[in-house]
Amino acid sequence: MKNNRVTFASKLGMVLAAAGSAVGLGNIWRFPSQTADGGGAIFILIYLACILFFGLPLMISEFLIGRASQANASDSFTKLAPGTPWKWVGRVGILSATLILGYYLVVCGWTVIYFIESVTGALGEVTDFSGHFSELQGNGGKQSLYVILFAVVTATFTIMGVKTGIEKASKILMPLLFLLLIALAVRAISLPGSTGGLHFLLYPDFLNVEGKVFLAALGQTFFSLSLGMSVMITYGSYFRKDSNLPKSALQISILDTLVALLAGFIIFPAAFALTPDVNAVQSELVAGGPGLLFITLPGLFKSMPLPMLWSALFFLLLIIAALTSTISLLETGLVFISERFGISRTLSSILVAVFVIVIGVLSSYWPQFFNLLDFTTAKVLLPLTGLPISIFVGWYLDRKLVYAELSNNGTLTFGHRFLSAYTFILRYVAPLGIMIIFVYGLVA
Ligand code: PHE
Repeated sequence: MKNNRVTFASKLGMVLAAAGSAVGLGNIWRFPSQTADGGGAIFILIYLACILFFGLPLMISEFLIGRASQANASDSFTKLAPGTPWKWVGRVGILSATLILGYYLVVCGWTVIYFIESVTGALGEVTDFSGHFSELQGNGGKQSLYVILFAVVTATFTIMGVKTGIEKASKILMPLLFLLLIALAVRAISLPGSTGGLHFLLYPDFLNVEGKVFLAALGQTFFSLSLGMSVMITYGSYFRKDSNLPKSALQISILDTLVALLAGFIIFPAAFALTPDVNAVQSELVAGGPGLLFITLPGLFKSMPLPMLWSALFFLLLIIAALTSTISLLETGLVFISERFGISRTLSSILVAVFVIVIGVLSSYWPQFFNLLDFTTAKVLLPLTGLPISIFVGWYLDRKLVYAELSNNGTLTFGHRFLSAYTFILRYVAPLGIMIIFVYGLVA
């Protein structure tokens, strides 16, 4: 096991790189479609609770496991719990990350295609965005091509290494994306007729909430915060010894949630404002699924001056946000393979890339396969990995090690309340909560 790990060059770069992993298509593409499916405001409320009670504590825990062990996500468990099967938690996480990358690349491909169509102006000629998107979904060959392209670019960044590639990209472009989202939200909300969308986002319907909405919110929490797939363990292993783990996790969770909410406050007001018939909007939202972003947003751009400029800028920044996520997903499998089998970063990066390309191409041709992967990863594998992680840190690990790692060997001080709340959540709230939501969501 190698111990001469690279670390991120600066603290800000480190937080931004982990934030770059968290903020991605999960926030801007997946969050709105899950919100639409889950009934709007009620989904958002449950989602926020999941972030607070499961997401945040688990992110701290994943960072802690990674930084305490300085190893890939499988060896990190081996180091902290030698001779036990705990390493399989890390391995299942690595598998989930790689499977997710496979179908995530399809959505990355859509983003690139929409960017190119904005630059050439072709998107500006479209009148029926829903038809336009279905046509793309029916074109397996075209989607596959962009899957391959995106995988190659991702692999190139990971080969270049942690410092040059990931850190630099994240530093400049994340803040830019944030500003653009604010501008678009202001525009969408100021459209006449947008209030239906605001209502949908702000007034929860407590009476009609089903078990599967809880599971969807839980899955979205893991997906969006990059948890349960060994990614944050891997990034934690690159963290510097003087970085404040709870504070970083808090900052990343807040940023990630803000981006998702902003995306919601763009898509829903725009959807309601741009489709005059409210019933049509409702059914479009329910049927919206994966296409929502790619159908509603081009409509919003069309309502603005210089539509193709906004559109190109938006899809470009989305590509970058997606790239910082795909890099983290590929990195997780890569570093495991490279350290486990003693092969170079380059070769393992190529191996993982080939594997995810196969999955991506299959998902491009069969949307059912895409949906199946999305379901099994977000709603089954991620909660099933998150649960043992909370038990590992809450019960298995020595308390002294946990506190030493949280406080950087006593250099940071945390209130007694924080530490007991953290332990209580990891011991009881998270394991029980995840289990109940999981079982109830699958059977109900
Ligand atoms: N969190 C990323 C997003 O929301 C996706 C992702 C999932 C990245 C898992 C890394 C690991 O887009």
